[in-house]
Amino acid sequence: MSVVAMIGAQWGDEGKGKVADVLSREVGAMARFNGGNNAGHTVVVGSDKIVLRLVPVGILRPDVRCYVGRGCVVNPAYLLEELERLASLGVAAENLTVDWNCHLILPYHVKLDQAGDEALGRRRLGTTGRGIGPCYADKASRLGLRVADLFDDGRLAERLGALADRHAPTLEALGVAVDEVEVLAGLREGAPKLEPYAGDVAAAMRQEVASGAKVLLEGAHGLLLDVDYGTYPFVTSSTVHPGGAAAGLGLRPGFVDAVLGVVKAYQTRVGEGPFPTELSGELGERLRRRGNEYGSTTGRPRRCGWLDLVLLKYSVNTAGVDLIALNKLDVLDGLEPVKVCVAYELDGERLEGAPASLDHLGSVEPIYEELSGWADGASGATSYDALPKAAKDYIKFIEDYAGAEVAFVSTGPSRDDGFMRRQVFE
Ligand code: IMP
Repeated sequence: MSVVAMIGAQWGDEGKGKVADVLSREVGAMARFNGGNNAGHTVVVGSDKIVLRLVPVGILRPDVRCYVGRGCVVNPAYLLEELERLASLGVAAENLTVDWNCHLILPYHVKLDQAGDEALGRRRLGTTGRGIGPCYADKASRLGLRVADLFDDGRLAERLGALADRHAPTLEALGVAVDEVEVLAGLREGAPKLEPYAGDVAAAMRQEVASGAKVLLEGAHGLLLDVDYGTYPFVTSSTVHPGGAAAGLGLRPGFVDAVLGVVKAYQTRVGEGPFPTELSGELGERLRRRGNEYGSTTGRPRRCGWLDLVLLKYSVNTAGVDLIALNKLDVLDGLEPVKVCVAYELDGERLEGAPASLDHLGSVEPIYEELSGWADGASGATSYDALPKAAKDYIKFIEDYAGAEVAFVSTGPSRDDGFMRRQVFE
């Protein structure tokens, strides 16, 4: 297996940063294919916590070539900020290429996102406010600006003018303003700094695959936030499904050898939307505290609950997950019992799988199976044998229910907490 697509199998925040970091030891290239700086992939190196939102995590290893494909949206000001932050940590991003065709997130999109979501009142989505939805909307409306436009000044000014005109009435209605002159000046200033990173990612990726390099595709968010397969409308605006990686990077369909689904040992969600196994009260608070469940992008407290195996199976089946990386098993240390959702009740009937329309998730009651907990011992474990028996049983239960093998287990935040049970790249 030389091309592995890693995706989140829940509502994001599954710990993909850590898994990507561990696997980056083995690969020649890493690529992002969806989303923008609404993602937050966290890596803990020694006492440093590094959050990467746009640049692939592989950038922390000097020999890994990193790509941002055209399925992603790029906020140029934010990208420069991330590159500066990396430079301050001694990380030169010489191996980074951002596709010329990535759409640009502009201040218009950020304002439209923030003020637009706010204006929805109780129907708001709770977006990250990074301008993601409006940017993808402009892409689909053929109004957007792309990375290549930064290096063609006439085109840049003309396309920016058209975009500004189109959004002026909406911005006015929302009571917010964007200064076109200022935006243009900012883009002109950033352009020469970004030019060395811009390139043809599709051609480079074809080359990577043809040369047999091991490639990790670093999916952002989680399948339940996918614009087509998630809990619409409480979703992000990009394709999280690994099928999107072919289009998002410019490769032939079928080039992915294996799909690795990243799963947290319990369930979390930020923003609005249905969440059948959500725990309020002390138990939910305990998971939040122990798991440090605060958004890495917005700092918002995450909603927490028991692992929803019905939704996990939905993700495994929908996205073709072959292997699972199970994160944060240590957070369950000391809980007795540990519950997992194995079915739902809807209108008095038992549902064994996800409802045909995920819209009904707001009305289902979870049916739990109670499993034995373990007092301690998962925290920091570096081998399967070192785990308490009940934790091993928990892993087995997940594998049997979801129908995918757990290849990696994380037992703490640092790079060294956890172990591989089987190779992901062969
Ligand atoms: P947007 O992606 O900013 O438009 O937000 C849409 C929804 O997706 C909101 O509920 C966000 O909280 C959620 N979301 C987007 N990206 C992530 C992520 O990486 N982790 C968790 N939730 C996310």
